[in-house]
Amino acid sequence: MDIQTSTENLFDHKADTYIVYLPTNNRPLSGETAIADQQLRGAISQARVNKLFHGKSGHFLEFPTPTRSKAKRIIVLEIEDKPDEININLLRTFMGTFSRQVRATKTDHVVMAPPAGAWKSLSDSDYGLAVAEGLILGLYKFNEHHTKKDTASKFDVTLLAKSRSQLAAISDGVTKGKILAESTNSARTLGNQPANFMTPTLMAQNAESLANKYNLECQVIEQDEAEQLGMGSYLSVAHGSVEPPKFIILKYHGLPRHGNYLTLIGKGITFDTGGISLKPAAGMEAMKWDMSGAAVVINAIAAIAQLKPKINVMAIAPCTENMPSGSATKPGDVFYAMDGQSIEVANTDAEGRLVLADGIAYARKNGATRIIDVATLTGAMGIALGNVRVGGFSNNTRLWNEFENASSATGEKYWRLPLDKEYHDQIKSDVADIKNTGGRGAGSITAAKFLEAFAGDTPWIHLDIAGVMNVNSTNGEWVKGMAGIPLRTLVQLALNRARS
Ligand code: BES
Ligand code: MN
Ligand code: ZN
Repeated sequence: MDIQTSTENLFDHKADTYIVYLPTNNRPLSGETAIADQQLRGAISQARVNKLFHGKSGHFLEFPTPTRSKAKRIIVLEIEDKPDEININLLRTFMGTFSRQVRATKTDHVVMAPPAGAWKSLSDSDYGLAVAEGLILGLYKFNEHHTKKDTASKFDVTLLAKSRSQLAAISDGVTKGKILAESTNSARTLGNQPANFMTPTLMAQNAESLANKYNLECQVIEQDEAEQLGMGSYLSVAHGSVEPPKFIILKYHGLPRHGNYLTLIGKGITFDTGGISLKPAAGMEAMKWDMSGAAVVINAIAAIAQLKPKINVMAIAPCTENMPSGSATKPGDVFYAMDGQSIEVANTDAEGRLVLADGIAYARKNGATRIIDVATLTGAMGIALGNVRVGGFSNNTRLWNEFENASSATGEKYWRLPLDKEYHDQIKSDVADIKNTGGRGAGSITAAKFLEAFAGDTPWIHLDIAGVMNVNSTNGEWVKGMAGIPLRTLVQLALNRARS
């Protein structure tokens, strides 16, 4: 999909479909809608009189145009006229749903009248951002492995503006929205690929090609080098797999000097069987999404590289499968992380925290001054917060507040959970410094406490995305399959930090 902007008059545009807006109250028609009504010889007014409109935002009627029109049809989209209730998150969701309805009308080029009605209460750049994100996220489809593709049509969109200055603001929003939504869709595709099409090796190739495309520094630490670096915790997860593990590092330099990295670390388990602590068979296929964190941080830094903020960012994705085999880690085994801490692996299914421990340790040794890790870490997270909010943890309230602030206009939702020191008692080990499970109570918190032991005094946030890693039914900008949370919040945080 291509999204253009233009100041040309709607009815001078040669296109397939025009979109005009109808307020749901009974106000007289105005602007483009009034002109469309004239062209259609009062058909819109008549439809209103005949109560064919539903009086609900998002509902629309399609009118075939008279012979002289430069378009084939006019879609009249209803918008509730309640400016106080309209915000950027609602418009994005609304456009997500609308995008699929428009696709179903089999059009190839849509021109949208300038923002009207309640939408005018948004800034022009927020309007452009929300429309671009809603359309691109909403139309996402993963159908690579369907050999008989449904012929869902693709369409281009032109957004109209009333003035040059409005055009500039809308275009700014569209440009940013495109980058954010397309990066989210790329992350979604990494996750939606079955695990045999997204091994650690393929994750690394993908990161390398993004690095080439967007001029990022890329380094992939292979197994032998990881051994030399002492990444025993990360490597312990890979012992059972025939797929070589890949520890991926990407760097973006927006400042003249290297260092002082805002560091994004993503859990990259390309498939989680549980290892010797094997998971039950039912639903195990969902564990192809256990690399969602890695997919998000890799594509977040690619988006940052396109937006070019003045800040240094590092993305780290420790990638491996978690498999059972004769060489796999056994429950009770002890390993040493890169920072020297010893870990008793009480349960091989608590592998995410093991790869993140070395991810965090590596980051701290290599110039990270702020760390945000993103991980499908605990099933308990989905029990606590369901699939609505991401659970967040932090050792630094200032950083957390910045993060929450960055999230407010993204439609991605978070909730901070506690890290009281008492919870640490649950992960004390008889044989090592720490163990990787904390029993039944507060499973998400004890997982976070484990990570906190590696973050030390570096300002750090842990985001447990297990509950929201995938969407079960398509709605708004959310399409069934991998969600792509928290990519847009991470990018916004980097932009905000660069500005302040
Ligand atoms: N990848 C899983 C967590 C998960 C479960 C993510 C469901 C998304 C949906 C993680 O590696 C795991 O297995 N965690 C265990 C930890 C336990 C053994 C302490 C869990 O949550 O059961
Ligand atoms: Mn697991
Ligand atoms: Zn896992």
